[in-house]
Amino acid sequence: MKGRESGMPDEDYWASFFAPEGILDRLLVAPEDGFDLIEFGCGYGTFTLPAARRTRGRVTALDIEPAMVDLVHQRAELGGLTNIRATVRDFVDHGTDLPSASQGHAMIFNLLHIEAPLVLLREAWRTLQPGGIVSVIHWRSDIETPRGPPLAIRPRPEHCAAWLADAGFTAVRHIDLGTAAPYHFGILAQRPRP
Ligand SMILES: C[S@@+](CC[C@H](N)C(=O)[O-])C[C@H]1O[C@@H](n2cnc3c(N)ncnc32)[C@H](O)[C@@H]1O
Repeated sequence: MKGRESGMPDEDYWASFFAPEGILDRLLVAPEDGFDLIEFGCGYGTFTLPAARRTRGRVTALDIEPAMVDLVHQRAELGGLTNIRATVRDFVDHGTDLPSASQGHAMIFNLLHIEAPLVLLREAWRTLQPGGIVSVIHWRSDIETPRGPPLAIRPRPEHCAAWLADAGFTAVRHIDLGTAAPYHFGILAQRPRP
């Protein structure tokens, strides 16, 4: 099921809220070089393509919207990025289909306001290798923002941190995204090593 309030506005408008490289500088950490990465809800590929340029590993970009996946495919091809696998998939109802403990990093950007955030976080945990990192960004509630889901369903950093802990993540860290995303907060957490 497509998550509530997860449709995308016009692409230029969406892109105006982010400096993707600055965000990834702060968030795209992984336990090893050449890591594989899973992105839940890739949308226009705002973060997919820059992330794929930062690893030699495979980037699995999933979205329920075929038009988004087609766009990411086309852009990967145009950009000569052979390590992106963009696939249409409902990861809430059907999971990711990735092997357990296979990914170094999982990105969940602008999505944790959906009905079932824990389903998503548990699937991220399953796919991550021990020591693997999940990154989360979402719209802030403490300032006025030009977009974002209604405040009634918009998770605050403390909600995300609690869900991450419930899903089994540790080392939860709040990350200031600075001017790279002035309307967003960031969080990193880790699937613990045994
Ligand atoms: C608000 S957009 C964010 C896109 C991207 N993460 C970003 O920050 O630029 C959320 C995306 O998640 C996708 N999505 C929502 N529910 C989904 C589901 N159940 N399975 C797969 N994708 C889903 C939507 O189609 C949309 O492209």
